[in-house]
Amino acid sequence: MPGYFIAEPPKIEVFDDKILKNAQAKKLIQDIPTKLSNDTKELALKVVHLSLQEARAGKIVSREKIREVVAKLVEETITRHDSSLLNLMDIRTHDKYTFSHSINVCTLATLMGIKQKLKRKELEDLALGALLHDVGKIMIDLEILDKVGKLSPHEFAEIQKHPIYSYNILSREEDISEISRIVAYSHHERYDGKGYPRRLTGSEIPQLAIVTSIADVYDALTTDRPYRKSLLPHNAMRIIISHTYCDFSVDIVRFFLRAMLIYPLGSLVRLNTKEIGLVIKVNERAIIRPTIRLLIDSQGEMLPLSKVEDIDLTKDMSRFIIEPVGEEVFARKEEHR
Ligand SMILES: [Fe+2]
Repeated sequence: MPGYFIAEPPKIEVFDDKILKNAQAKKLIQDIPTKLSNDTKELALKVVHLSLQEARAGKIVSREKIREVVAKLVEETITRHDSSLLNLMDIRTHDKYTFSHSINVCTLATLMGIKQKLKRKELEDLALGALLHDVGKIMIDLEILDKVGKLSPHEFAEIQKHPIYSYNILSREEDISEISRIVAYSHHERYDGKGYPRRLTGSEIPQLAIVTSIADVYDALTTDRPYRKSLLPHNAMRIIISHTYCDFSVDIVRFFLRAMLIYPLGSLVRLNTKEIGLVIKVNERAIIRPTIRLLIDSQGEMLPLSKVEDIDLTKDMSRFIIEPVGEEVFARKEEHR
């Protein structure tokens, strides 16, 4: 088997470095609360890296460390999830997809688990399964795993084995619960039975695996991949909605949309006034009317610091959000300077 995951875990990038190039804008978003502490993110990345290496060698010996990090992830997600905030931007890293993807899926699945009022033990089992859902990929040839072009039927059949490998690897560890193993085993099953590896349908698919699979799809869509750019959250949600009745049941899609935010904290939006602002606070009772920090005025000019203001759209009814925008609005500003 080729060498896999031998690189060091990636260095954490703080999300404002990637979203906003403009120094002034960066300064303005510094006080936005983030979902996970940097310590926990770094620890989680190290542990995922370590456990994948160990799994490759045949035995996950650092189970205690995994438990510790899962407990921390769950604890922070519980204590920091004010209202329905789902803000994954702060745990993104672009260079090592697998590591950050595992943590994103884990956080997102845990948040959905909290919304489903799961007990602490169930949450930790779900989080562990979600964190290591793709561990079985270590058994698949890198040439197949990293192939950018179309996969041959044989290659696709190989890829489809990874949930089985994940289940087998996690089953070697007595103290990893069956719930966690099943989450990893079933995260590619689909509502209409066209998923894999067991082609389960509808209610045959374990509920916590469905939560993990929708988190998996959402995070993959909103992350840059070698073959496509990341989608903005609302576009990823649109795609997930369009897959109702084939990939996901209408109930889970509804639940997902309720748990998710269409305008996540830290995202940029254009208002009806042509102003552009940053979402700095989500208003639980009116998720389409968050509090916005205005950064660009209606003429397209960057506002000076002295004029920057925060607007609660639940109070200012003359303004409303037209559409989310990407960070390129700042890139254009930089070009004009
Ligand atoms: Fe997978």
